[in-house]
Amino acid sequence: MMFTANAPIGVLDAGFGGYTVVKELQRIVPQESIVFYGDGKNQPYGNRQREEIVHLTKQCLSFLQKKEVKVVAVGCNTISTLIDEYQNDFPFKIFSIVRAGSDALIQQHPKKVIMLSTMFTAQSGCYERYIHAECPDIEVIPQGSKWLARLIEDGDFNKRKIAEELKASLGHAVELHPDVDTLILGCTHFPLVKDIIVELYPQFTHLINPAAVQAQQVKEYLEKSDLLSDNGTGDFQIYTTSDCAVYTRLANVVGLHMTAPVKLAPAPVTLRT
Ligand code: DGL
Repeated sequence: MMFTANAPIGVLDAGFGGYTVVKELQRIVPQESIVFYGDGKNQPYGNRQREEIVHLTKQCLSFLQKKEVKVVAVGCNTISTLIDEYQNDFPFKIFSIVRAGSDALIQQHPKKVIMLSTMFTAQSGCYERYIHAECPDIEVIPQGSKWLARLIEDGDFNKRKIAEELKASLGHAVELHPDVDTLILGCTHFPLVKDIIVELYPQFTHLINPAAVQAQQVKEYLEKSDLLSDNGTGDFQIYTTSDCAVYTRLANVVGLHMTAPVKLAPAPVTLRT
């Protein structure tokens, strides 16, 4: 299938965490148009079953396909862990943020790393698989949080609740491994609370935010495929299946360049409804 250079880049997340990817894209390829789709209604995906995540994801990608995107950056770790289950169903190239985060970690090559993510991402073993394929000597300690992505998605950044959930999910690993200074932010919502993480656990002097590497990988792919836009400045469409006001406010908090009001989109249907 042929794509046109001025078609938009699609960015997908279960919520607004993928804004952290949009921010990097707007920084390094400001001429590109972007369509963002955040399925806040069904978030958190990370507490769902594998077949349901795939079912929801295919519907999200079909939405982006109708917007005629030329490539998709999956700005969601949970969804990225299952990329092999849907990437061949769509005509455009799909980028995994878990792959990007693993590549970023491999570049730094610490001896040990803690990877904080949703429950599903932690249990999938996906980071370990990618990292150990190239660097079997790096010890990866995955830690899942059941509610951190959901708490952040609420949009009010309740510091007390966020700190409590961090202690519940990360506290034990930090006690066991006081020598680890590198933390992978294995959920795209987490860079939004990185100050709280570092205040609570100052041992983490190296935070890996996979978004920057993913944006770079998308840029290199577009260059190589002769698909970089020559349109001047790109426009940015945000679709959410939950609350347009929260998505508008958070886009401003993240510092995104807004060119249109946030729109409500149909939510993917779950397997049980
Ligand atoms: N930002 C998503 C991620 O990176 C959160 C997914 C979820 O809702 O579980 O995993």
